[in-house]
Amino acid sequence: ARSGALAGRRVLVTSGPTHEPIDPVRYLANRSSGRQGHAIAEAAAAAGADVTLVSGPVAIPDPAGVRVVRVETAREMLAAVQNALPADLAVFAAAVGDWRPAAERAGKIKKDGSAPPPLALVENPDILATVSGLAENRPRLVVGFAAETDRVLEHARAKLARKGCDLLVANDVSPAGGVMGGERNTIHLLGRDGALETWPTLPKDEVGRRLVERFAALLGGT
Ligand code: C5P
Repeated sequence: ARSGALAGRRVLVTSGPTHEPIDPVRYLANRSSGRQGHAIAEAAAAAGADVTLVSGPVAIPDPAGVRVVRVETAREMLAAVQNALPADLAVFAAAVGDWRPAAERAGKIKKDGSAPPPLALVENPDILATVSGLAENRPRLVVGFAAETDRVLEHARAKLARKGCDLLVANDVSPAGGVMGGERNTIHLLGRDGALETWPTLPKDEVGRRLVERFAALLGGT
C-alpha cells in the first residue's frame, strides 16, 4: 500500500479544455493548458492517492502515477467522470465549454460565397453541479474552480453557492495576468463558511502540492 497524506483515497480530477465539434474539421475550444489540473493530479498521486485524471485535449505530458482518461467534449467528460466514481475527493479544474454547437454537421461546411453560416449553440451539462448534487456517490469533498476576469471574489462566492461544491479555487484569468496557459497561478481559496484565503503567486505545481495538502487535511486521517 502507498503511504502519504492521501493513502487509501480515491481521487478524481478533471483538467484541460473541451473541444466542441462544429463539423469534422472545426471545433469550439478555450485557452486552458491543463497545467493546474494535471499538477493537482500528480500531487495527489505523490501523496499516495489512487488518481483518475479525466482530461480534455492538452499538449502537456500525462502526470506520473495517474490513470488518464482522455475525452474531447463536455458530454464525454461527464460520462468519464460518472464512470470514475465513487471517489473520496473530486477536483473540477477543467475549463469545460459552456456551450456546444446545436448540431454537429456530418460534412465540412463549405465556403460557397454566400452568407457565413449561423452558429447556433446549446448549453453543455454542468459536470461540477451534477456531481455536487448526487444523492448517492457524492464525493465527500467536491472542489470547483472559478476562472474569472473581473470581480473575481464576488463571482466566486456566487458560484460556490450555485454549484453546491465544498470548496472553490478562484483565479483571475485576465489576459494581463498570463494565468491561462501560463506556468504560475495566484489563487483564492473560498470555503462554504465564507472563509477566504489569498495565496501568493506560485508555480502551478507548487499550487497543486499545497492544495493537495489542504484537501488531505479536510478529509482527515484514513
Ligand atoms: O460556471 P463556470 O464554468 O465558471 O464554473 C467553473 C467550475 O465549474 C469549474 O470547476 C469547472 O470545471 C466546472 N464546470 C463543469 N462543467 C461545466 C462548466 C463548468 O464541471 N459545464
